[in-house]
Amino acid sequence: MFDGVFNNSMMWKAQKQQVVEFQLVNLRDFGLGPRKRVDDTPYGGGDGMLLMIEPLAAAIRCAKQNNPKAKVVLMTPRGERWRQALAQSWADSSNDYIFVCGRYEGLDERVMAFVDEQVSIGDYVLTGGELAAMTVVDSIVRLIPGVLGGENSAAIESFSDGETLEFPQYTRPEVFEDMEVPKVLLSGNHAEIAKWRAENSIKA
Ligand code: 6GU
Repeated sequence: MFDGVFNNSMMWKAQKQQVVEFQLVNLRDFGLGPRKRVDDTPYGGGDGMLLMIEPLAAAIRCAKQNNPKAKVVLMTPRGERWRQALAQSWADSSNDYIFVCGRYEGLDERVMAFVDEQVSIGDYVLTGGELAAMTVVDSIVRLIPGVLGGENSAAIESFSDGETLEFPQYTRPEVFEDMEVPKVLLSGNHAEIAKWRAENSIKA
């Protein structure tokens, strides 16, 4: 699942520039027995399967071997809601992170002994934590200095201060199917343009 996201576009560039490095760990490699089993039914009964603690613990320990001080982040709808301010502070920190992506109906609760932080990307339930982890990683990596190119582009855009949205923007052509670019943007009057943008950020 991760290859398409990590090996394209901004995250591909960030790896090439060596500002970030990804290592993928496959839980299945730590499964039990010849079938490499990773899940089992819950004690007390109920529907669905849980990820077992042995493969989870072994996979997390394997990831930690490369990086004993890395923070272990469990992706779960019960976690702290992800937001731009967190992305910024994780991008600014020198920490490394291990993202644990749950699957199935849940995980054996004893995984919490290995977890430093819990993160959710919103109030809805995904089948697995992978999409959430990729979302969180993307939002962090693009804030690392040097990744976006223009050092300011991340800072001036939507959400960077957590409150203001980006102003509307236009490129050629000046008229498309009767829809015109706001005249002030064609005026060359930088003060007026800045004023229009400020007003329309607030409006957005
Ligand atoms: Cl982090 N994981 C899953 N499975 N579902 C979610 C989520 C995470 N954040 C929102 N929904």
